[in-house]
Amino acid sequence: MLISEVIMQIKHYCKGSWMGMQIDEERTRDKILYGDPDRECTGIVTTIYASVDVIRKAHELGANLIIAHEALLWNRGDHREWLEESQNRTYLAKKKLMDDYGIVVWRFHDYIHSGIPYKDGYIDGIFYGLAKETGWDDAQIHGEMANALYLECEPTTPGEVGKLIMEKWHLNGLKCIGNMDAKVTKIMVCGHVMEGGDSNSLIRKIDKEDINLLLPMELIDFTLTEYIKDSGQLGMDRAILAAGHFNVEEPGMKYMLKWIDDALSEHIDTHYVQAGDMYTYM
Ligand SMILES: [Fe+2]
Ligand SMILES: [Fe+2]
Repeated sequence: MLISEVIMQIKHYCKGSWMGMQIDEERTRDKILYGDPDRECTGIVTTIYASVDVIRKAHELGANLIIAHEALLWNRGDHREWLEESQNRTYLAKKKLMDDYGIVVWRFHDYIHSGIPYKDGYIDGIFYGLAKETGWDDAQIHGEMANALYLECEPTTPGEVGKLIMEKWHLNGLKCIGNMDAKVTKIMVCGHVMEGGDSNSLIRKIDKEDINLLLPMELIDFTLTEYIKDSGQLGMDRAILAAGHFNVEEPGMKYMLKWIDDALSEHIDTHYVQAGDMYTYM
């Protein structure tokens, strides 16, 4: 099967609409970021992003299609002119590697978040995959928004949850904030806590609904982090375990192995390659 056909069939398998609107082919992030898709697919690697090591590993595995959730060349839209113009050395070396190995990179973001088949409808493929890979079968999945995943559980501690996700998501460590002795019965993956706004609505929700443990994707020191630190110092059951954006979403790309055969008209060897914990700690 041609790589272009693989991509078409995967898109077709997904819901393909987003907040009630059909995904716009012009504006979607889900583009071929590198390479020529009009060639036979020799194998597929799924990952969170096509790092240099993932490209090397794909070649080793005999795969020429990398399906990645995030951008390839360090900017939204994967614009390359500025890298060409400045002859960026890392860019040139990464490009050479992809050329030498005949690698195609396709970004699979909007379609997988739009939904994979589930019961009579669709469910966000990234956060559903995250729940399944973690063993959180009771989690409620709300998709890519402030409250991406919500779970009520038997009383536990941030440390216990931390041990579980470090094992299941294959992490080197976690940033821990707040009260590490907190009694945890409500866990939430809370999306992107970033510069350029506030976290007022999130803080209001945490206080009102008594949510104990937050697993953010992006996290800055302002707003939510300060709030959780203060709450913890007041002895409240509040903590954050910050694994990082890619670490939180990557299990969803691993879970893709469970359904890719249903999406494709013929079997293609598919491997999951973890881009690796973004962080090492010392
Ligand atoms: Fe993301
Ligand atoms: Fe995502």
